[in-house]
Amino acid sequence: MDRGGIFAGDDPFAIARSWMAEAEASEINDPNAIALATVDAQGLPNVRMVLLKEIEADAFVFYTNYGSKKAQEIEGAGKAAFVLHWKSLRRQIRVRGMTEREEGPQADEYYASRSLKSRLGAWASKQSEPLSSREYLMAEVAKVTVTKGAHPPRPPFWGGFRLRPVEIEFWADGAFRLHDRFRWTRETPLDSWGIQRLNP
Ligand SMILES: Cc1cc2nc3c(=O)[nH]c(=O)nc-3n(C[C@H](O)[C@H](O)[C@H](O)COP(=O)(O)O)c2cc1C
Repeated sequence: MDRGGIFAGDDPFAIARSWMAEAEASEINDPNAIALATVDAQGLPNVRMVLLKEIEADAFVFYTNYGSKKAQEIEGAGKAAFVLHWKSLRRQIRVRGMTEREEGPQADEYYASRSLKSRLGAWASKQSEPLSSREYLMAEVAKVTVTKGAHPPRPPFWGGFRLRPVEIEFWADGAFRLHDRFRWTRETPLDSWGIQRLNP
């Protein structure tokens, strides 16, 4: 297949890493911000931004609160999708696949890498639940600052999700709206990839 330049190679994770490296140099902030889509029990879609923290050999990882709305929807469906869009590069990557928790040493390590305030914030916030006031939240932060100390452990209700894709599409802006699109698909995350060029 005629697929050179920015689409070169058969490993979609290598392409994603290479595009991310370019975006890190060209985006004004948060080049790793992804719009993460889930569906609720009624099939109603939901979407919000999260930060993509790892592009692994065969999966993508982000972190959140396991009690949050998104976590409930991810775990209800066992599936999620996300899109990355870089305005500076005029490119997007779309990903769909199966989800599982990352709540082992890798999650501990990422949690430990965050600032102390962020680590304590994770303890204090009941993400997605109603909050009576900002003051209440700050009082919760003050409480955990005392009870958890300077080296808080990762909260059991906070950790990662690993998305194992069955579909990854790379899109790059082309002249006269004749964009380039290449899609990697596989039936399950255990299968090998097929690659197709798509009409714009
Ligand atoms: C740029 C950006 C990055 C964000 N990153 C995260 C993140 O990594 N994890 C997270 O839980 N929420 C993140 N948020 C907040 C989410 O968008 C969302 O408000 C929150 O997770 C609650 O979503 P939910 O109620 O659907 O679970 C981010 C928001 C923005 C705008």
